[in-house]
Amino acid sequence: MIISSPTDFRVAAKDKLPPFLFHYIDGGSYAEKTLHNNSQDLANIALKQRVLRNMADLDLSTQIWDESFALPIALSPVGLTGMYAKRGEVQAAKAAQNKGIPFTMSTVSVCAIEEVAPVIERPMWFQLYVLKDRGFMKNVLDRAQHAGVKTLVFTVDMPVPGARYRDMHSGMSGQYANMRRIFQAMCHPSWALNVGLLGKPHDLGNISTYRGSPTKLEDYIGWLGANFDPSISWQDLEWIRDTWDGKMIVKGILDEGDAKDAVAFGADGIVVSNHGGRQLDGALSTAQALPMIASKVKGDLKIFVDSGIRNGLDVVRMLALGADCTMLGRSYIYALAAQGQAGVEHLLDLYRKEMEVAMTLTGAKTIAQITEDILVHC
Ligand code: FNR
Ligand code: LAC
Repeated sequence: MIISSPTDFRVAAKDKLPPFLFHYIDGGSYAEKTLHNNSQDLANIALKQRVLRNMADLDLSTQIWDESFALPIALSPVGLTGMYAKRGEVQAAKAAQNKGIPFTMSTVSVCAIEEVAPVIERPMWFQLYVLKDRGFMKNVLDRAQHAGVKTLVFTVDMPVPGARYRDMHSGMSGQYANMRRIFQAMCHPSWALNVGLLGKPHDLGNISTYRGSPTKLEDYIGWLGANFDPSISWQDLEWIRDTWDGKMIVKGILDEGDAKDAVAFGADGIVVSNHGGRQLDGALSTAQALPMIASKVKGDLKIFVDSGIRNGLDVVRMLALGADCTMLGRSYIYALAAQGQAGVEHLLDLYRKEMEVAMTLTGAKTIAQITEDILVHC
């Protein structure tokens, strides 16, 4: 299939993946209202066209703390990435490094920290979930630090997993799930060979390393429900802030009060996120929430944002709404599933080109010049 735009990768990923995996990625929680609103609200934000301003030299790079970004983009943490492409976390981390941006490894990745960190020079970011087994938290933080991780992304919007009803229909969970997944794999022979067979082992690498035996994926959704900890509170974060010797970003902020608490707590950054519409359906889209949050905490910490970003214009819109940097979830995962590392690199090139056109025609030569002034309030 010919890929000419970032959204083409979604179609290509749908062809390639067994449905249980495609729908796990693609779906949201409950009626998927927030999932839908994320990209819709963003796409509806009007950009102010300006012309004849000599826009020959653009600079899309940015600096966050002591880290340089070739683009104002980072890859969001995504669970089970090694099921979408062969050793997917390794491929995504290499693509991000080649394009000058950070890759964030999920706690529930297939490849463990020890498999990915040594193959890249740019330190990866690590995302932490608090499990009921608190020994894991300490173990994984030590391992991350040992592997050179300097930025911790602490996700706080999943004390319990939201129900994704598609998963029950698709075979990701529910009755006869195992048999249905085997049947789907047989109908997708290229995935079955390259990922299903040659991409093994398939387990939760970080947790298996801690436990000393594989934590398998047969009942992954059940495992999330059983192991995530609904008692998580700011006290858990305090313990980490005091032990973690690096930057700490709190991911899953959607409310200005919580954003102010994150500042008071001493976070270095927040990710304004509704988990890509996978948690509280009916929550605000991030395009709605971001300006209110930015008006309260911009400058006090770094503001990252994800959820619904599907192209370079969306990146520009989010920066204009007050973000310092954006993060991509599904958009890069579709590219990875479709074409591996090369797909993610191609995707990031497309983002760059789209951003260049948007910046040229809104009169913003640098990332710092992308402000509210480039928006039209209709
Ligand atoms: C996620 N997300 C996520 N977040 C996180 O902190 N840890 C995780 O393990 C996962 N896992 C995960 C799996 C899948 C399949 C998806 C699609 C998402 C949420 C992710 O980091 C990000 O917040 C959203 O994907 C952003 O929304 P978009 O860009 O996908 O619309
Ligand atoms: C998800 C989890 C793992 O969204 O964050 O599926």
